[in-house]
Amino acid sequence: MKRFPQFKEKAFLSPMARITDVAFRSICKTYGAGLTVTELINAKGILQNPESIPEICKRAPNEDFFSVQLFGDNPKDLARAGELVSEHCDMIDINLGCPAYKICRVGAGSQLLAHPQKVRAIVEELDSTLSIPVSVKMRTGLNDKNITVHEVAKAAQDGGACMVMVHGRTRDQMYTGTADWDIISQIKKELSIPVVGNGDITSPENVKERLEESGVDYVAIGRAASGNPLLFQRINSYLDSGSYLPITTKERLQVFEEYIKLSMKYQTSFLHQKIQAQHFTKGITGAAKLRLALNEARTSDELLRTVTSFIENE
Ligand SMILES: Cc1cc2nc3c(=O)[nH]c(=O)nc-3n(C[C@H](O)[C@H](O)[C@H](O)COP(=O)(O)O)c2cc1C
Repeated sequence: MKRFPQFKEKAFLSPMARITDVAFRSICKTYGAGLTVTELINAKGILQNPESIPEICKRAPNEDFFSVQLFGDNPKDLARAGELVSEHCDMIDINLGCPAYKICRVGAGSQLLAHPQKVRAIVEELDSTLSIPVSVKMRTGLNDKNITVHEVAKAAQDGGACMVMVHGRTRDQMYTGTADWDIISQIKKELSIPVVGNGDITSPENVKERLEESGVDYVAIGRAASGNPLLFQRINSYLDSGSYLPITTKERLQVFEEYIKLSMKYQTSFLHQKIQAQHFTKGITGAAKLRLALNEARTSDELLRTVTSFIENE
């Protein structure tokens, strides 16, 4: 087992498909996120198409400790894919949480929560093959009648995982209901490796409460960070000094400008930039016109001009 490093930042950016691209991750790091992870990547896809690796594992210079998340069900395939990507990252994370049918159908993602021994075999295979550490990210079980996170987290630890991240929902819950932080606290007590708690954190106060109540080593933030990398700065400020300033619309849109510029540099697809535009303008009062204009933009330059002129007229 290789060790998970210590982060001074207590809040990590949780992986999110079509959101946590390299430009977005880099901006979250700039504003104080700890660990950053790619979205889930198909291990079999990597084996079939290894020339895609430099693109999908693109890392920003400020991602000083960077993890690639793989999904799959076969220990050997996962370990071979892990070997191929290991020169581009510092850790491999195995997805044991994705509830999507097309992933569960092939026995991967949250389907693995029904098979603790297989999880152990997967982690063991990766840990013995790779020179970099292996972590897992999981939900609490398939449904409330099958809460297996205790066995699965232990199996991952026994197999050599350096860290376990737990999203406190079952697969069948998808994103409904609330994350069960009591279970997350129990897992923290049961394991000796670092535990990262995840689910429903939306504010700096939430981070403090969750860290104190559950005893987890770190928390990971997904949806509340999408379109809002400044959240990490406010969290760090609150944990350091007990106070933080509210995030203004102007600041948020300035960060979106930064995002567009960086995503042009990293050649993120235009479609992706437009999806991000929706996240960055979500919940902003009076932004209906801006959203419409962003929606009509046909190039990245047009996106940038639209947001810049909105900020200037704010
Ligand atoms: C749009 C979206 C995409 C996601 N993609 C991934 C993924 O690729 N890998 C993963 O482990 N979790 C993924 N998740 C789950 C999040 O990482 C996180 O566990 C979940 O959203 C709960 O945290 P939150 O309440 O802070 O959002 C995704 C979630 C969302 C909303």
